[in-house]
Amino acid sequence: MTINKPSRFTFKIIFKRTTIITIILTTLIYSVKLYISLPSQNIIVNLNDIHKNITFTKDEVYFLNGTAYDFYSIDELYNHSEANIQWKTFPLPDEQLPPNIHPWIPRNHPINKLISISSISTSQQTNTGLAFVDHIYITSAPDLIDRQANIERMFARYQITNFEWRMQWARNTCNLHENKEELYRKINLKPTPIRNEKKKRQCAITMEHVDIWHDIVARNFSLSLILEDDAVFVPFFQEKFNRTIYTAIRTGALKIGELATCIKDKPSLSRNSNEWFEQDPLIFIGTCMGFIDSNFARNRRNAQPILTTHKETANRCSHAYLLTACSAQALIRQISVRKNTFLQSDLLLQALVAASPTLQSFWLDPPLVYQGNRIKDLDGIPSFRRTTYNN
Ligand SMILES: *[C@@H]1O[C@H](CO)[C@@H](O)[C@H](O)[C@H]1NC(C)=O
Ligand SMILES: *[C@@H]1O[C@H](CO)[C@@H](O)[C@H](O)[C@H]1NC(C)=O
Ligand SMILES: *[C@@H]1O[C@H](CO)[C@@H](O)[C@H](O)[C@H]1NC(C)=O
Ligand SMILES: *[C@@H]1O[C@H](CO)[C@@H](O)[C@H](O)[C@H]1NC(C)=O
Ligand SMILES: *[C@@H]1O[C@H](CO)[C@@H](O)[C@H](O)[C@H]1NC(C)=O
Repeated sequence: MTINKPSRFTFKIIFKRTTIITIILTTLIYSVKLYISLPSQNIIVNLNDIHKNITFTKDEVYFLNGTAYDFYSIDELYNHSEANIQWKTFPLPDEQLPPNIHPWIPRNHPINKLISISSISTSQQTNTGLAFVDHIYITSAPDLIDRQANIERMFARYQITNFEWRMQWARNTCNLHENKEELYRKINLKPTPIRNEKKKRQCAITMEHVDIWHDIVARNFSLSLILEDDAVFVPFFQEKFNRTIYTAIRTGALKIGELATCIKDKPSLSRNSNEWFEQDPLIFIGTCMGFIDSNFARNRRNAQPILTTHKETANRCSHAYLLTACSAQALIRQISVRKNTFLQSDLLLQALVAASPTLQSFWLDPPLVYQGNRIKDLDGIPSFRRTTYNN
């Protein structure tokens, strides 16, 4: 007996079927791929008379007339009347929201832990010009007067006049024998000398931050904003900041005023904890090196603003963050736990948050603050062109 081979006819049918199936499958795969790698939106903008027809992408930030425009705020270059509508999902008290806009809630957030926005006391309003912030610190160096003038110009726009420059430490003071004891005590350094030239330069800036943490505790400020002198702000900074603080309080991440209680060493947070409530918060409102939370819809110009936890890899540089008195205390406490090797300020922050039993770090996306020396500066601030590290 011979086994019947498929005739030419049936073979053709099989061939046709497989072709059709292949075509369908290919189309499916391509559309799925297309969906996954959804191209980022681009926008053509005229930044000013010189910079016209610029293709603006999610990776670009331009500093222009004292404002940092990123992909998520570039529309506000043309519309000076109001922050983009997605910011309404971070509502202010008594705000009438359009019917399609709902207050943002973190993923899997227990509803019973939400704090009613109308119950948040506004008696906390302070004299800094920024909602709930009772002190603003800015690290700098005496010779960086162009950066200082730049910060003052940006703040004047929002009537923020109340801030404190910190420029006590410089490369040479950090290396002075008479300061050695203070340096090693405050960072609880291992008894090995800081030899590396780069680290000597970074030492000044780290010491300014550590001193600020001590000052916050000593003066018991409920919420402090810490900036470095290269900080530049997105449009509507003050309003977006206000919305962010109300959202942090409403979702239970930030407790100030009557709600303020420092977390003692229990519960002890693990290195990858997503704890939202029982923690001492460190809120990064700035970003650097493209650090953006993976849940943020970064390809979309109107991406939903979000807050996210980043316990183990907190680093978003140290040019713009918020501390409560409790969080500053927790940083100082963590320094004393063990001898440290010297780290620049952002890496020190990251190491302390990761190891601390109580500290939690939060990232805001899109960020409100960039580093002027890392973006396209059309205003031409001279010292944004060089690395300074307070030398
Ligand atoms: C910008 O684009 C417009 C419209 O396409 C064109 O007319 C104009 O010449 C372009 N300007 C420059 C400077 O390229
Ligand atoms: C620059 O910003 C200031 C302050 O907001 C504003 O008054 C001025 O019109 C702006 N200049 C240009 C050229 O847009
Ligand atoms: C500018 O913003 C206002 C308020 O959100 C809005 O009504 C208006 O349509 C916007 N204009 C443009 C050109 O986007
Ligand atoms: C923050 O928003 C509230 C509610 O709209 C307002 O009363 C307050 O003045 C704002 N604060 C700042 C500093 O903008
Ligand atoms: C610090 O301020 C908080 C209110 O923000 C207050 O409850 C607490 O008693 C103050 N602590 C000290 C030591 O003064």
